[in-house]
Amino acid sequence: MDKIIQAVKASFQEKFGRKPVLIASPGRINLIGEHTDYNEGFVLPGATDRVVVLAVAARQDELCRFYSCDFDQYLEIELRNLKKSPLRWPNYLLGVLDQFLKSGHRIKGVEVAFGGNVPIGGGMSSSAALEGGMAFALNYLFSLGLDLLSLTRLAQRAENEFVGVRCGIMDMFANLHGKPGRVMKLDCRSLDFEYFPFQWENVRVVVSDTGVRRELASSEYNVRRHQCEQGVRILQKYRPEITSLRDVTLEMMLEYQSEFDPVVFKRCAYVIKENRRVELACEDLLRQDLVAFGQRMNESHQGLRDEYEVSSAELNFLVEAALEVSGVYGSRMMGAGFGGCTISLVEDHAVEEFKAKVSASYRKQTGKEPAIHVVRIEAGTRILNV
Ligand code: GLA
Repeated sequence: MDKIIQAVKASFQEKFGRKPVLIASPGRINLIGEHTDYNEGFVLPGATDRVVVLAVAARQDELCRFYSCDFDQYLEIELRNLKKSPLRWPNYLLGVLDQFLKSGHRIKGVEVAFGGNVPIGGGMSSSAALEGGMAFALNYLFSLGLDLLSLTRLAQRAENEFVGVRCGIMDMFANLHGKPGRVMKLDCRSLDFEYFPFQWENVRVVVSDTGVRRELASSEYNVRRHQCEQGVRILQKYRPEITSLRDVTLEMMLEYQSEFDPVVFKRCAYVIKENRRVELACEDLLRQDLVAFGQRMNESHQGLRDEYEVSSAELNFLVEAALEVSGVYGSRMMGAGFGGCTISLVEDHAVEEFKAKVSASYRKQTGKEPAIHVVRIEAGTRILNV
């Protein structure tokens, strides 16, 4: 990370000619609980040592100047003139500025240079890292005194309204609330959360990137959301107290099964089972039973593959290859799906073999090399210097 910090700091000084405040904003992993956040269910994410570093400073006027070190692209825009950029990365920053303005927070122009090592579009939420980092930066630079949950909500609304992706709250929440060696069980309905230690001497969290980036991910994501909403509407006719799949049990689903389109039924059943898996997985953690925990990760993958149908051939190859390595507790696709990455829990001694075997079999199946990252669970968005 030191190299990134130095490079971003130097770029900032070169472009803007002064000293910045440095902020580290992490990408996230999610151990289990996929496509549950927008159904008011449970997730179990953590922040990682893959970060976006933002070098930032406030201005006295309304001008905003941004520089992406990784893309070597520059953009400037007046605060009162914010509009969507044809480049992708500025929108994550502009969206956050837009939300702060809409919420009536008193901000001025800013200078931002950023770069990092969160794989872009790779399923570790590089976008939430940028949004969470920007929200954190504005709060700090303009002494707004907002708490982490308010920043989380502002960052999520930036993605929903400005970027136009109807994501849930998990990514930003993990980005801002992460703690070293801990994952958080978040109840996406009440936003209550509890930290669970996730630091094992002999176990590593391994993220394997398919290298596949599909636009399909966001269109199909919205289709899945819609299918879940359809399921809720069917059940509401009989039980008006139901407001989300969180209120639904498998028994209720079976009682009214004839009303359901079979695809909608499968989608909703997956969400209900996945929520239950998160709860059981947390009990496994308390018992320090990683074998049971890994098994639930595998079941989560099967559900995502067969019932929620958001996996892909590449993700399935990676999971299958991972499970052939002895010393792997569990493996599943992570994030929205269709591309991006898998997450596996791997015994320390098996990591090298994992890398070699999973790469070789992925290469054989697809002709491509997967990027394999061993990640640590680290702190959420934070100031690196003052
Ligand atoms: C994406 C979204 C999250 C969540 C996951 C699926 O990462 O941004 O809100 O819905 O997909 O669990």
